Amino acid sequence: MADGAGEENVFEGVELGIGTWAWGDRLFWGYGQGYHQEDLEAVFNSCLNLGFNFFDTAEVYGQGLSETYLGQFIKKTNKRVKIASKFMPFPWRLLRGSLTRALQGSLKRLGITRLDRYQIHWPMPPINIETWMDAMTDVYQAGLIGAVGVSNYERGQMLRAYDVLAREGIPLASNQVEYSLINRKVEKNGLLKLCQERGIKLIAYSPLGQGVLSGKYSADNPMSGVRARRYDRKFLEKLDPLLTLMRQIGEAHERRSPAQVAINWVMCKGALPIPGAKTVAQSEHNARATGWRLNEEEIALLDAASDKL
Ligand SMILES: NC(=O)c1ccc[n+]([C@@H]2O[C@H](COP(=O)([O-])OP(=O)(O)OC[C@H]3O[C@@H](n4cnc5c(N)ncnc54)[C@H](OP(=O)(O)O)[C@@H]3O)[C@@H](O)[C@H]2O)c1
Repeated sequence: MADGAGEENVFEGVELGIGTWAWGDRLFWGYGQGYHQEDLEAVFNSCLNLGFNFFDTAEVYGQGLSETYLGQFIKKTNKRVKIASKFMPFPWRLLRGSLTRALQGSLKRLGITRLDRYQIHWPMPPINIETWMDAMTDVYQAGLIGAVGVSNYERGQMLRAYDVLAREGIPLASNQVEYSLINRKVEKNGLLKLCQERGIKLIAYSPLGQGVLSGKYSADNPMSGVRARRYDRKFLEKLDPLLTLMRQIGEAHERRSPAQVAINWVMCKGALPIPGAKTVAQSEHNARATGWRLNEEEIALLDAASDKL
C-alpha cells in the first residue's frame, strides 16, 4: 500500500530511508550476481517490519526495474509505504508535459496513483529549471505527487526552483545530493546550511560511500567493477585511518560498525541518509544506525579524520 493522499509531512520523523538504485541494476551494481529479486523482496519486507518504510527510487534505476520490483512488493503488503521517485530531464524531453508522462510511467510501474515525493534527478540542459518546476506544479496541483524535490542541484539552482514553487505556495521539500564522510562538499559550499535555513531537507545519497565506508573493502580486499575506478587501492589505503577511528568510536556505542557510524554521522549533521541495501543482512545492519547519536566530540574527531582524506 503506497497511496497517501491528503497526508501532510509524510516524511516528518523519518530518520532513515532505503536507496534502491541497485535493485535491478546490472551495469554498476551487478544485479543478478550474488543478489536477485527474492533478496530484494526480503529487504523490502524486513525494512517494513523494522519500521522503515521510505524507499528512494528513480525511473532510470535498472531501466525501470527498481520501480517495477517495488510495485510488485507494494502490492503484497498492507503496510504504508512511502515512495520517492525521480524524473530524468533527458535532452530529448523538451516539453513541460513530458514530466507528466514520465510520472505516469513511474506510477504505472509502481502500481500506485500518487507518489509521496517526485524529484528532478539532475539539473540537465537544455530545458531550464523554471520549466521543470512549472511541470512539477502541474502534477502537484493535480494531486499526483505529495511533495516536490530536486537532486544534484547547486545552491543557485536550488534557489531558482524554490522561488518558482514558492510563487504557487508549494514548498521545495528536499534536495538529494551526495553526502558522506568521504564527500563533504555540501558542508564546504554552504548547501547544507542553505537547506537548513530554507526548511529544505537534504537527502544524503551514497552515505556509505557506495560501500567503502562499511569497512569491508581495503587495499588487500579492493572493490571490483565500476566502483573500483573511483575507489582504487590508493584511495582505500588513505581511507584506513578514518575507518580505524570509526571502529574505535563504534565500539563505545554498543559495538556499532563503521557502516552504522557512517550513517549516524549523516543524521547528526541534520541530513536524511538513504543507504542502499542488496540483502537483508545489509538492511538490518543499517537499521542499527538509528536510535542513538554520536556525541559532539566524536563528530569533531570524525570530521578531522575525514578532512585529511
Ligand atoms: N540522486 C542521485 O543522483 C543519486 C545518486 C546515487 C545514489 N542515489 C540514491 O542513494 C541511494 C544510496 O546510495 P548508493 O547506493 O550509491 O551508495 P551507498 O548507500 O553509500 O552504498 C550502498 C552499497 O553499500 C554496500 N552496503 C550497504 N550496506 C552495507 C552494510 N551494512 N555492510 C556492508 N556493505 C553495505 C552495498 O554494496 P556492496 O555489497 O556491493 O558493497 C550497497 O549496495 C541509492 O540507492 C539511490 O537511491 C541517488
